[in-house]
Amino acid sequence: MEHRHIYKQGTSADAPTLLLLHGTGGNEHDLVPLGEMISEGSNLLGVRGNVSENGMPRFFRRLAEGVFDEEDLIKRTQELKEFIDTASDKYGFDRNRVVAVGYSNGANIAASLLFHYSDALQGAILHHPMVPLRDKKLPDLSGVPVFIAAGKRDMMCPPQESEDLTTLLKEAGAEVLLHWEQGGHQLSRTEVEAAASWFKQKFA
Ligand code: MLT
Repeated sequence: MEHRHIYKQGTSADAPTLLLLHGTGGNEHDLVPLGEMISEGSNLLGVRGNVSENGMPRFFRRLAEGVFDEEDLIKRTQELKEFIDTASDKYGFDRNRVVAVGYSNGANIAASLLFHYSDALQGAILHHPMVPLRDKKLPDLSGVPVFIAAGKRDMMCPPQESEDLTTLLKEAGAEVLLHWEQGGHQLSRTEVEAAASWFKQKFA
């Protein structure tokens, strides 16, 4: 399934391509400045979610705030994976070197990609994610680097969610760094700086 998207070719052939996934109400352009801060030379693939909630783009439906439509989530996760495959053929980037950068709803679908496939992503930066699905057996994620940024006062995503997500990913073999901010659900400059230095350690 097609997604509205933008693709910006990077300057470094060795850097992974960043898959940019916005929060509720965002679009394919939102995380471009973030992507540039995290990895200057990377190709950037900014994607818009195909679901509309009262005109606000999202990557999957929800029944209420924080309560996901799991059937839709599973279907949209597969669609997004297929979209990345197609985009890699179209633009010629290395399909095995795609790192997701997601915020909120975008972080949740990125986490869902990790929950469903061992090879959809080379790594992921998740800003304020939740556990996308409970009671799911995860694929083998041995050595997959994941950075999670969470807020101690995040009402949308309570600290326990971030702890649970970290545990589930680690149990599947992923190498997870959980970074705490004192604030709420907003994306802060300090967490983006922490993500950027983590990225350099893992991928430079
Ligand atoms: C979600 O629905 O994915 C979460 O509640 C976060 C958000 O509102 O984007």
